[in-house]
Amino acid sequence: MMNDVRNSSNDDILEPLNPDQREAVMYLDSPLLIIAGAGSGKTKVITNKIAYLIREKGLAPYNILGVTFTNKAAAEMKERARALTGIDAKYFNISTFHSLGLRILRESGAAAGFDKEWQVIDDKDRKKILDHIIKSNFSRFTNDMRDDAKRKIGFAKMDLNYPNNKDFLYQKGFNEDEVAIFSLYYQYQKKNKVWDYEDLVSMPVKLLQTNEDIRDKYRDRFRYVMVDEFQDTNPNQYELVRLLAGGHKQITIVGDDDQAIYSWRGASIRFLFNFEQDFPHTHIVKLQQNYRSTPQVLEFANDVIAKNYNRKAKAMWTDKAEGNPVFVLDSRSKEDEAGKAADLIVRLKEEKPELFPFAVLYRINSQSLAFETEFTRRGIDFKIIKGLRFFDRKEIKDSLALLKLTVNPDDDISFLRVIDFLPLGIGAKTLDSLALEARGSGNSLFETLRREMPDKYNAKRTFALLLAMNRKYTEESLPLSHILERLLKGSGYLESLEDRGEEGRLSNIAELIAFIGKWETENPGEPFNRLMDHISLDSAAAEAEDDEKNNEKVSQNLPVFLLTMHNAKGLEFPTVFAAGINSTYMPFFLRKDRAEFEEERRLFYVASTRAIKQLVVSVGGDKASQFLAPINRSLYSNVYSAGDILEILSPSPLSMFERGLLQESGILQGNREERYLEHAVFGRGKIVNVVSGDIYVVDFEKRGEKTIDASIAPVTFL
Ligand SMILES: Nc1ncnc2c1ncn2[C@@H]1O[C@H](COP(=O)(O)OP(=O)(O)OP(=O)(O)O)[C@@H](O)[C@H]1O
Ligand SMILES: [Mg+2]
Repeated sequence: MMNDVRNSSNDDILEPLNPDQREAVMYLDSPLLIIAGAGSGKTKVITNKIAYLIREKGLAPYNILGVTFTNKAAAEMKERARALTGIDAKYFNISTFHSLGLRILRESGAAAGFDKEWQVIDDKDRKKILDHIIKSNFSRFTNDMRDDAKRKIGFAKMDLNYPNNKDFLYQKGFNEDEVAIFSLYYQYQKKNKVWDYEDLVSMPVKLLQTNEDIRDKYRDRFRYVMVDEFQDTNPNQYELVRLLAGGHKQITIVGDDDQAIYSWRGASIRFLFNFEQDFPHTHIVKLQQNYRSTPQVLEFANDVIAKNYNRKAKAMWTDKAEGNPVFVLDSRSKEDEAGKAADLIVRLKEEKPELFPFAVLYRINSQSLAFETEFTRRGIDFKIIKGLRFFDRKEIKDSLALLKLTVNPDDDISFLRVIDFLPLGIGAKTLDSLALEARGSGNSLFETLRREMPDKYNAKRTFALLLAMNRKYTEESLPLSHILERLLKGSGYLESLEDRGEEGRLSNIAELIAFIGKWETENPGEPFNRLMDHISLDSAAAEAEDDEKNNEKVSQNLPVFLLTMHNAKGLEFPTVFAAGINSTYMPFFLRKDRAEFEEERRLFYVASTRAIKQLVVSVGGDKASQFLAPINRSLYSNVYSAGDILEILSPSPLSMFERGLLQESGILQGNREERYLEHAVFGRGKIVNVVSGDIYVVDFEKRGEKTIDASIAPVTFL
């Protein structure tokens, strides 16, 4: 609630910050741009600035718009803002661009003809619809041509072009057929009242462009605007920011050009660099101290990214204590690599629990398979972050389609899904004649079925159930969670899953029912649409619950996560195991031109800079990545097994042979505790262990524990 704002001083907002960060938080005189490297506290500045504006400048949480890249990041940011202000997380306007756009459309879309029946479809549904349109109108299209058309339509929307702007589409490289496909798709969207993800940003932009009142309403509401990860902004997202903050110009954006990794999806770094043109008098703050990683990780990452030509040089530094070396782990194949990763996890759990959570990062999703297989075989619990999102799973989408069709029997998209997954005896032929009839009469598919084919045997029973439930919903307000349960039982869907022993799917459905039940209790009287919005976009909540459940399992032990490098953006982990750093996956072999090559290197940089304490760069193939060759040899250690790594991290007790060597060199004479050496760079330190030969572990007075090779290091024994 508004009035339970904590009565504490400013200290916990400004105190923990360095002077540059503090300046960035307090600066309000003109637009502010923070350009800074990984781990320099950019996200922290945004979060603290939100708290600062509320506590010091009297803004309501409602008046501050925070935009970030993923649901997970938004949820984390809300949580940090809550912790700093004591205000319930739900009062903050912190979200992704897509959730923000949907919200604007729901609140103000009526002005553009969007009634409340409009729904969001996900990328898979969009693809299905487009495939259907293309196949039934342009049968000669090959797969490649179809993909091309789909891609062009997505990019056109991202550039705010719709089929009413045909000349522009031709200029953008559309051919006649593609323009026709786009038109048909758009007609379909209007008839079925569906927005795809791209519309969720582009439609609100059009709404704000053409409707001054609405624009002013939002400018008035969002009195301060903050955007994280600005280097990966799309054209329509940028336009939305410009429309919202273009009036008062109360805006802070943060970004790192070295972490731009989404140009393949239409993002462009130019918005970061051209920001000052649209927002004159922009003040720039640079942050150069890294707070995340050890010097070893940071120097390695700095050296990786230094090899890119197309960048603005920046120097990151840290005053963190020396840590472990970066390891480049050799292995011949994915399987070999997964085996070594498993060995390492098992050994680290015993000997170095402080290096967990442990994250395996890879270039593309399919690389996770070898790790999943090996970890399962070895009994290592792990969690895949955002593989298939909960609501993307088939059984969840099936259940929701059944529920949506019950609430709105005219929902053709859900109808098509339902007849596809339930054995209702409606085949392709019946469907064709249904569709033809429906087109003629203007009725929905369901309505047409009811009128024209009342006796379809299987279908009749199920659809009778559906209509009965529809009445229970509209007339008796039976909770949706109950309705869903009855539908799933009555249609035989649950039974069919049980027969097939689909335990996982059954438990996901149980979770969905519980999720809906909880939502209904927490949001009494909210329309069904809101639930669906929540499910299609703000799945952060569900993901978080999913996480909690998973984490329970994972955290009984020490957690291990699997995720792509792209999904790891903005996150941090004590140990990062960067997998597949070889000629196939890094750079990814399909990305060959110069700009793509540099983007791949930035991705490697993003992956490396996620590490807090330990970075393991794993080759996992015959040929190491060409990104490794130019890296200064002194910045990493080559290792061949988990054993090698552990030997360096926690050297075994002295072998007899090594004792002999030590005695010879005089180190073990007398009390070993008293043996010291002086290193030209690290200063004075005490020898605490001998790894082998000339390799010592030394506890330096100023720099902490380090492993050195006395045969090459500049040392003098004292
Ligand atoms: N002044 C500070 N003192 C101590 N810790 C800090 C400070 N600033 C940031 N940190 C910590 O450093 C880590 C990195 O901060 P943050 O995630 O905000 O960086 P970032 O610049 O957003 O990184 P990325 O570019 O990877 O998104 C976090 O754990 C954060 O709490
Ligand atoms: Mg960040």
